[in-house]
Amino acid sequence: MSRDSFGGRATAIMALAGSAIGLGNIWRFPYIVGQNGGAAFIFVYILATVILSMPIFFAESIIGRRSGANGRGAFARLAPGTKWHIFGLLSVLIPTLIVAYYSVVGGWSLDYLFKAMTLSFTSGEGVPAFSSFVSSASEPVLAHTVFLLFCVIILLGGVRKGIGLVSKYGMPLLFLIIVAITVYSLTLPGAGKGVAYLLAPDFSKITPQTCLEAVGQSFYSLSLGMGIIITYSSYVNKSENLLVIGGGTAISDMLFAMLAGLAIMPAVFAAGIEPGSGAGLIFDTLPYIFNSMSQSLPLLTPIVAILFFLTVLFAAVTSAVSLLEVGVAYLCQEFSMHRRNAVAIVATFVWIVGVLCSLSFGPLSGVTIFGYSIFDVMDKFCSNILLIIGGLLFVIFVGWQMKRPDVWDEFTNSGAKKANVRIFGVVYFLIRYVAPVTVVLVFLSNIL
Ligand code: PFF
Repeated sequence: MSRDSFGGRATAIMALAGSAIGLGNIWRFPYIVGQNGGAAFIFVYILATVILSMPIFFAESIIGRRSGANGRGAFARLAPGTKWHIFGLLSVLIPTLIVAYYSVVGGWSLDYLFKAMTLSFTSGEGVPAFSSFVSSASEPVLAHTVFLLFCVIILLGGVRKGIGLVSKYGMPLLFLIIVAITVYSLTLPGAGKGVAYLLAPDFSKITPQTCLEAVGQSFYSLSLGMGIIITYSSYVNKSENLLVIGGGTAISDMLFAMLAGLAIMPAVFAAGIEPGSGAGLIFDTLPYIFNSMSQSLPLLTPIVAILFFLTVLFAAVTSAVSLLEVGVAYLCQEFSMHRRNAVAIVATFVWIVGVLCSLSFGPLSGVTIFGYSIFDVMDKFCSNILLIIGGLLFVIFVGWQMKRPDVWDEFTNSGAKKANVRIFGVVYFLIRYVAPVTVVLVFLSNIL
């Protein structure tokens, strides 16, 4: 891979925001909020983003830009002769596991796009409940397979430039559509309850489990803890301001998630859907929204529905491709494998694990691990354990292994960015002490 840098600041932020904003904001955030009691969870999530995720984001971008290398190579370059490079393996394993169930949800979006195109939302007959779709086995497995095949074609075809171009327009379009859906959703009868659920915190709902979920969601949503930000930051120009890029990405990611919550939750209450019903939340709620929207806006609704699922699908494909690329690049570099073979191996592994995740809503629903379905175990294990361990290692590396002057130099652009110089002490303190200690406490409080 050539080591070109991202053009300007806007491009760097767009690329990082493109990786951050995805199913995590639109699909995962609303349902995790619903399972964890609403506003109080959001409060912890915002706090976790500011005191944990932002420092970890800075740590990863410092590692990436300093080394100019990907998640694994970075450790070998910055700490040669140490064992740190072993942890770099996590940055291959985690994305490959995540993409397995990401692809299943990508398949659901594809299936719902198909439903939108065949006007199923607006035909008056309604779409069957998500639970009957997802437990039907063959349809979601087929959708997962087709979604993964799309990704494989992109990985093999080298058309990623085109993809970048489309996502440049796709993301803003997705944003506009979500704003439109939010505005509509707020007019539904009973919407106020949904807004109160998101904005009026009941702090008694905060438990150690809620805190772990909030940290996991924040890491997942910002693509932290798996070396993705290290790799992306290695392409960021030396003259760019890491504070602005990290802060910009975190804020836009949070806003996107909040917006998705505001689009979904009022309708959840209006439709009488259980907010804690789980991974299918948006797939139950959106058909309800589109159905009722079509009564007042019959011509516009199918267009909104199609564009919505198209852009969600796009956000999912771009994220999935970047997740798959990590394993592919690893096999190519480490084992001098032909790209085609590497893609075949990674895709086959991901397909098999994904099929198991998908079937866990139907024929395999009886198989549980620690009381969770296969899908939930994968999601919880990756977000709430692996990503958090990854993030912990990255802050420990920057806070305790790298030398403070090097960290200062990278974060402040050798002193050129005055605001960064001023807040460096705070950021370094967060990286060195607050983030690692908090992460360990959150973990321990869940185990004990
Ligand atoms: N942050 C993405 C989301 O919220 O959907 C998930 C993700 C995508 C993580 C791509 C990592 C990645 F490389």
